[in-house]
Amino acid sequence: MSWSAPGSIPQPAPELAYSTAPLTPGRPGRIIPLPEPQPLDLTRPHRQAEAISFTDGLNGQATYHYHVQLTDLEPGTRYYYRVSDGAAPEPSTAFGSFETAPAGRARFRFSSFGDLATPSWDRSESGNQWYQSSDNAWYAVSAVEEPGDGAGPPLFHLMNGDLCYANLDYENAPGVWRDFGANVSRSARNRPWMPALGNHETEFGACDQAGRPGQAPGGIAAQGAAGNYWNGPYGYGHYLSRFLLPDNGLTNYDGNHLRGNFYAFRVGTVQFISLDADDVIYQDSAASYFRREPDAPPMVTSSGAAIPNGTSTYNHAYTGDLKMSPADNAAVPDGSRGRPNLQTLWLERTLARARRDPDVDMIVVFMHQCALSSARANGSDLGIRRAWLPLFDRYEVDLVLCGHEHNYERSYPVRGYDRGAHGTVVNPHPDQTAGERIDTRRPHVVTTEPVTVGDLPGWDTQHGTVFVVLGCGGSNAPSNNYGTDPSTGAARAKVTTRRNATTGSQATGFRRYGADSAEEAPWSAATNPDDPYGYAVFDVDPGERPGETTITMQFFAVPAVSNQAGPLHDGTVTLPEKPYETVVFGRGISRRPGCGTRELSATTA
Ligand SMILES: [Fe+2]
Ligand SMILES: [Fe+2]
Repeated sequence: MSWSAPGSIPQPAPELAYSTAPLTPGRPGRIIPLPEPQPLDLTRPHRQAEAISFTDGLNGQATYHYHVQLTDLEPGTRYYYRVSDGAAPEPSTAFGSFETAPAGRARFRFSSFGDLATPSWDRSESGNQWYQSSDNAWYAVSAVEEPGDGAGPPLFHLMNGDLCYANLDYENAPGVWRDFGANVSRSARNRPWMPALGNHETEFGACDQAGRPGQAPGGIAAQGAAGNYWNGPYGYGHYLSRFLLPDNGLTNYDGNHLRGNFYAFRVGTVQFISLDADDVIYQDSAASYFRREPDAPPMVTSSGAAIPNGTSTYNHAYTGDLKMSPADNAAVPDGSRGRPNLQTLWLERTLARARRDPDVDMIVVFMHQCALSSARANGSDLGIRRAWLPLFDRYEVDLVLCGHEHNYERSYPVRGYDRGAHGTVVNPHPDQTAGERIDTRRPHVVTTEPVTVGDLPGWDTQHGTVFVVLGCGGSNAPSNNYGTDPSTGAARAKVTTRRNATTGSQATGFRRYGADSAEEAPWSAATNPDDPYGYAVFDVDPGERPGETTITMQFFAVPAVSNQAGPLHDGTVTLPEKPYETVVFGRGISRRPGCGTRELSATTA
């Protein structure tokens, strides 16, 4: 259980009470008082009950967050709780209830989207409108509580990164996080919201990358000059103060525990894995300050931090080194300096364990950035393809859900890659030539023909992983505009094949390259150019016997509302009751009786 103080002062005497029965004065439940707040310190393990303070390095605002780890819960059980700030004589309290995951092979529902942002002025707690605020962020949370098919809310929600874009409002990031929390808690008070880190969770601050403030003499104002620009460890201070997530058991080379940066949990017959793709991507899209004019002044903030032009928080390889494996154009953990990439090593261990586990049928990975996207906004990232797709192939990951592109896209099942140079450099960096062919490690399409499961199209994920882009939560900057080859009309994707370098100098100004290359994208199976928003609901059916789990995905498209007063804003949005598409995923479903069968194409390595 986690909650935050609404303002910038700690709660007087916070406590949590919980029970399997509704709480009444006569049945107050088990009461857990919380200790005094301590500053966020990832070098210490979390305690069972704790209060964390975090001070934003750019504006000096303090925030307070409360966490209790409940370890004695029964499966498949509803728990009732009350949190109190302990103020006298009238404490402020909030009530709620949630259901724990079922034991064993069981049906359950989960939902997912990324890129939520905050509601705009009329539906946010503060009445403010921040970067990327939109009332679609309000409707997205409503949809989790009341999915369009009327079959009830999910057991939990996967939030695929770019939670609220607080890094763009650097003077008011705590306020943005507060509006995000108030909006999301309409659902998160009732069920877990399990997040993944996105690029917009990487915030500028005044710490070194390990999160140590004040190392340079002269206080916060001197931190910029010392090269310290991160808000907490890796810029994730606000995120890691707010979310207490499953422990991966890892300590980074700088001494910080990596708890919550990436993690795994199992529900029923499905293994869920949340990854921090900031660790392996090439695109550089986190907090950055790039001005194109000569001798641009530093970004000076109210706390006195001064961030020079050309500064970027790039978290590539922050959990350790990767090196190229040229034989298969892959990136693998590199131990030559004694610090192989911890996240990738952990991912392989976690996938291997899941595939050995007879109780796990399907593996669902969720993360922020995309290995497969044909949107014109960001496109596909070769960094993810190199580091993690070989592992998704080897351990037959069934579904990969992401965000980052503010739209919907689904791939065909893919396994291995099309060898050779299937990409073209279109936006050359200084050492590239426009038009040269480039190996983008293009994922190999297993089949473009679905089987039929009942009357629904089905995809056999034993033969290939399906990638789904769900960055259509609520940001006001939708990107439902997809690349096509103008001569053939075929799908075409941007691909970032290297760090999108910064060019320039303080004297001339700085700018950043976009994605450098493009490829034909035969892997793109479904897009939605018409509606910028939407959410996906997944129904897990464990089947009769081990190995028979299926996951039915309904994607509901949601029309846009306007941030400007007027009919498009003030009218009540009717969330659609019919899905844009419904598809079934399952391992071996192409061989099952009752499913239409078709020949599958051969796969490559
Ligand atoms: Fe986003
Ligand atoms: Fe993003």
